[in-house]
Amino acid sequence: MSAGGARTAGARGAPFRFDPVAANTRDTVTLPEGYDWHVVVRWADPLWSNGQALDSVTGGTGASQELAFGDNNDGMELFSVEQRTLLAVNNEYVNRHGLFGTSGSGLPQSADDVRKSKAAHGVSIVEVRQVAGVWSVVMDSPFNRRITADTPMDITGPARGHPLLRTAADPSGVRSLGTWNNCGSGKTPWGTFLTCEENFHFYFAASDPDLQLPQAFKRYGIGASDRNIGWSAHDERFDVAKHPHEPNRVGYVVEIDPADPASIPRKRTALGRFKHENAELVIADSGQVVVYMGDDESGEFLYRFVSEGRYREGDDNAELLDAGTLFAARFDDDGRGRWLELTPAATGFTSQAEICVHTRQAASAVRATTMDRPEWIAAHTDGTEVYCCLTNNRSRGRQPNRGGDPTPINGPNPRAENQYGQIVRWRPANGDHASVDFSWDLYVMAGNPLVHAGPSAGSPNLTPENMFNSPDGLAFDSKGMLWIQTDGAYSDEGDFAGQGNNQMLVGDPATGEIRRFLVGPRECEVTGVTWSADRKTMFVGIQHPGERGGSHFPGGGNSVPRSAVIAITRADGERVG
Ligand code: FEO
Ligand code: CA
Ligand code: CA
Ligand code: CA
Repeated sequence: MSAGGARTAGARGAPFRFDPVAANTRDTVTLPEGYDWHVVVRWADPLWSNGQALDSVTGGTGASQELAFGDNNDGMELFSVEQRTLLAVNNEYVNRHGLFGTSGSGLPQSADDVRKSKAAHGVSIVEVRQVAGVWSVVMDSPFNRRITADTPMDITGPARGHPLLRTAADPSGVRSLGTWNNCGSGKTPWGTFLTCEENFHFYFAASDPDLQLPQAFKRYGIGASDRNIGWSAHDERFDVAKHPHEPNRVGYVVEIDPADPASIPRKRTALGRFKHENAELVIADSGQVVVYMGDDESGEFLYRFVSEGRYREGDDNAELLDAGTLFAARFDDDGRGRWLELTPAATGFTSQAEICVHTRQAASAVRATTMDRPEWIAAHTDGTEVYCCLTNNRSRGRQPNRGGDPTPINGPNPRAENQYGQIVRWRPANGDHASVDFSWDLYVMAGNPLVHAGPSAGSPNLTPENMFNSPDGLAFDSKGMLWIQTDGAYSDEGDFAGQGNNQMLVGDPATGEIRRFLVGPRECEVTGVTWSADRKTMFVGIQHPGERGGSHFPGGGNSVPRSAVIAITRADGERVG
């Protein structure tokens, strides 16, 4: 398999402006010389002055968490509204040993623990301000907002009101409660935030352990037993024995208007229901909105939505994500590929509404290509190509996906039991994101050239100096350089010897060169990246430091580790991308 990043044609990208940092296992953030960082906001920091600072013994209460930044920050986007800077940040899941206090079992014990857990999930919208170089939260900003697992949401698009979405509490199937496991993000040119529901299935359980689970539940991993979440014991909405349609109301891309704190978030069912990673939105030459999306599970698919309507700057674009065509990707071994329509005619489903709920099954029906866990997708700023992290897939070549689709070694997924991951990129035919045809290659195959020869050493642009595993977060900066974040093995041993903690790297799409820019603290994942309007600050997410008890980031000493958004600036005050 050829891979290695250099394009046969194309200009050299922007020059690197830093010397790479070495891998390490320190319990802090490491940056190149000439760069500084500081914490902007951490889990449990209050957003309003009637909130409370974290009580690290108890992990706080439901009431304190509702007034505070959520846990495990992930994808984020920055918005400029009325000359203010708003950060919209996903709070994917929780670190139970911090949330439920340092002395307990790490499990929710009470209704208030469940209230606290639900409030630590969702989205935090936070006004931030830079004073004397330091970014911090504007307490009591009228734009500060928490959206949690209990916030009312409108269900829009083809599945709105469908019988599959109707429940006892919402017999019309148009209004659900909450969003959770919000992973990557997206941003629209009309100023809204897209938050992507990923591993929503973990939160459901059945009070009847003998309940026969339908095939549709199995495809999404919805089971009968509680997975140390505890929500179903205190909120019967999460008990599938009582409310079997509730899982059909989550697994979507949700659109939020950060400029209107009273707005009701909208679940855009037209973009399909699966374990959404992020939503990378581009405007095609036709003006149609194209949203690229990955489904992060072994052997699942890559998707694209193409709107029926056209974006027009300044017009009302609010409904563009409600009508259009959904596609799943087929990658052929010869370097070509095609987007396969997910319509009733193509899939055998009776309605588009059902396709929008049972999207995985629809993509299986058209024989889309099973992928090595698609994570973030990023479109090059020059409009010519799109990149996607395929984080790893230990099941490749070994077992089918949950739907029984085989997962043979194939073009963009060339390694059996793939533990390192790769980044695939594709070029839409004629540079048109609405085209059904594309060509593809691999930008990089991760690996470990210190330990292995052959495919497990990675592609030629992967070296002992820049090696990593499990690419996950991905974004282009204003200069067309590719920022890569990792969520992988941090043992620094065996197959991962010399790779240290999770990290962030920068790639030049034109040459294939990759340099390590940042090393995170122990046991974290680096996820979420965005820039200030002047590009002089880069905001980066540090998620779940010390998830196994081995970190005190960022407080040091004996403090409880806390997920955090950090700001990175250059000492010379120039742009960071
Ligand atoms: Fe939440 Fe696939 O990462
Ligand atoms: Ca991720
Ligand atoms: Ca991941
Ligand atoms: Ca994660």
